[in-house]
Amino acid sequence: MGNNSLEIKPIAGALGAEIHGIDLSEPMDDVTFQQIHQTLLDHCVIFFRGQHITPSEQLAFAKRWGDIHLHPHIPGLDGTPEVFEIVKKEDDIHTLGGNWHTDQMFTETPVRATMLYAKQVPPRGGDTLFANAYLAYETLSDGMKDMLAELRTVNTYNMKKQRAAAMQVSDINEEPAEFEHPLVRTHNETGRKALYMSYEGITKRLAGMTDAESEPVLGYLRQHVTRPEFTCRFRWEEGSLAVWDNRCVQHLAINDYHGYRRVMHRITVNGEPTT
Ligand code: SIN
Repeated sequence: MGNNSLEIKPIAGALGAEIHGIDLSEPMDDVTFQQIHQTLLDHCVIFFRGQHITPSEQLAFAKRWGDIHLHPHIPGLDGTPEVFEIVKKEDDIHTLGGNWHTDQMFTETPVRATMLYAKQVPPRGGDTLFANAYLAYETLSDGMKDMLAELRTVNTYNMKKQRAAAMQVSDINEEPAEFEHPLVRTHNETGRKALYMSYEGITKRLAGMTDAESEPVLGYLRQHVTRPEFTCRFRWEEGSLAVWDNRCVQHLAINDYHGYRRVMHRITVNGEPTT
C-alpha cells in the first residue's frame, strides 16, 4: 500500500493522531512505514482503528520499530512470548499502568516504544491518557530549565510491592536494582528535549539527593507534565491499536470500569541509552 492513502487526523492540541487508510494485517512497504514512523515522531502517540490482527501480525508491525523487549517478570503469550496480555477482570480492583508513568524507566535502557492492541474493551471507560513531555519541558522558565539541566533521577520498581492484580507475575526474589536517567532527556531522533520521569513508585528521587530534598522538584514536575493542555485522551474500541514514544510521552490507564473486562495485547520495543 502506498503512502498516499494514509490520512492523519490529530486528536488534540498537544499530541496524538489517528491514522486511517491502512490495514495492519497486510504487508507494509517501507515508504508507508516511514510515513507512519514520521507521524509518531511528529505526534508522539498514534492510533489505528478497526484492525483485526493476530499476535504474530502485531509482532511483525512492532518489529518495524526495532528489536522487541521481553518483560523480565511478566510472561508473554504461548507461541508469541514478545506479546503479553494485560487483563483486568470484572472484579479486579487495580489496573496495570494506573499512575502517570513512562514505560520501564527501571531498566538501564528503557523501551523506546510501546504498542497496545485492544482485544476486549468495556462499554464505557477504560480510556488511556497521554501527556506530551516535550511541551512540559519547553514551557518551563529558563531559570527552571537551567536548574534541571544536569539533574539525574534514580529509578526502580519493586514488582512485589505493586498490586497489578490482573497480571501473572513470575517469582522475584532479588532486591530491584536502581538505574539513573537524565531528568531532561534529548530524543535521539528528533533532537528535542523532554522531561523524563515516572510516578513516585518508579522515579524515587534525584541522584545525590534525599527523598525529602527531591520531592518538591519532582512533585512540581509531575503536576506540570500532566496539565490538561499537555494531554490527550484515547477512547478504545475493539481493534484499536496505539503506539507511543516513551522518550517523550507519559501515559495513564484510567481505572473507571469496574464490573467489566478489558483485555489488551502489549509489545514494547527496545530503547537506547538515555542522554
Ligand atoms: C500501560 O501502562 O502500558 C497500559 C495502558 C493501558 O492499559 O491503557
